Amino acid sequence: MGSIVFLPLKKSIEVQSFSNKTAWVTGASSGIGEQLVYALAKAGAKVIVSSRKQADLVLVKANCPNPENILVLPFDLTDEGGMEKVAAQAKQFSGRIDFLFNNGGVSQRSVITETQMDVYHRLMNINYFGTVALTKSVLPIMLENKSGKIIVISSLMGKFASPLRSGYAAAKHALHGFFDSLRLEMHEHNIGVLLVCPGFVKTNISVNSVTADGSKHNEMDNAQATGMTAQECAEKILKAVRKDKHEVYLGGKEIIAVYLKRYLPGVLHKILLKSKVT
Ligand SMILES: NC(=O)c1ccc[n+]([C@@H]2O[C@H](COP(=O)([O-])OP(=O)(O)OC[C@H]3O[C@@H](n4cnc5c(N)ncnc54)[C@H](OP(=O)(O)O)[C@@H]3O)[C@@H](O)[C@H]2O)c1
Repeated sequence: MGSIVFLPLKKSIEVQSFSNKTAWVTGASSGIGEQLVYALAKAGAKVIVSSRKQADLVLVKANCPNPENILVLPFDLTDEGGMEKVAAQAKQFSGRIDFLFNNGGVSQRSVITETQMDVYHRLMNINYFGTVALTKSVLPIMLENKSGKIIVISSLMGKFASPLRSGYAAAKHALHGFFDSLRLEMHEHNIGVLLVCPGFVKTNISVNSVTADGSKHNEMDNAQATGMTAQECAEKILKAVRKDKHEVYLGGKEIIAVYLKRYLPGVLHKILLKSKVT
């Protein structure tokens, strides 16, 4: 690492309102992403909604207060080669993208000894490379507008790991490396980066999780069923965007683990050995 030069800090990029702004939400067909779309639409934003399932996105659009302000733009996060094209389509909608909510993702429920390598590739391709590729396609649009905010829905699994989540935790940790770097590079361009780390949120994430052979877990885990609602999570995410936060932890008492990992990692290790993580 070279010598560190301290640059004068610019005023932070505060969001006064989402009204008449354009937001792009991935993973918009369900869970946290769907609730982000409703909260943004209610706040007066134009919203581009993406995931793989077009029919589900059409339903989300119909549920919004002003459906004419919603663009359905389906794509698969593993289709790296198609990102430039969807970014161009998104730009055509209103000429700008003020907020990119990188929310689409898939979790995991399988032990390392049984997990096939292609499952690890899939977890990285969706959660990490898909997010990086989409962000790289949107950056030129934000740079042209000289402003923007990139929000990444990571996880508490981006700050520490638990059993059954090896590939998921690895992908979420990787997001922190990339987006912490991006935040520093983009500061002078008025483009902010927020990493959101939820704990347990009541969505279909466990149902949709991949298992050792790539098949779906298909079970609503108790931790998910009793977690924070997706609506509450979405509202807290928008609050963090407004406050220009760099990183936030959302959830219940599981958040304490972030601080244990930092200051008392041995204690966290012992707690996790005894914890049920489903
Ligand atoms: N729920 C939690 O407890 C929790 C905790 C921490 C972090 N998170 C994170 O929050 C984000 C949203 O998850 P969620 O809880 O709302 O779960 P969810 O209801 O399962 O939503 C996942 C979303 O990702 C989309 N998606 C999955 N694979 C995709 C692909 N290959 N290409 C494009 N889109 C894809 C899905 O839509 P399609 O099937 O239509 O493609 C869906 O809209 C994820 O990044 C997750 O890791 C969730």
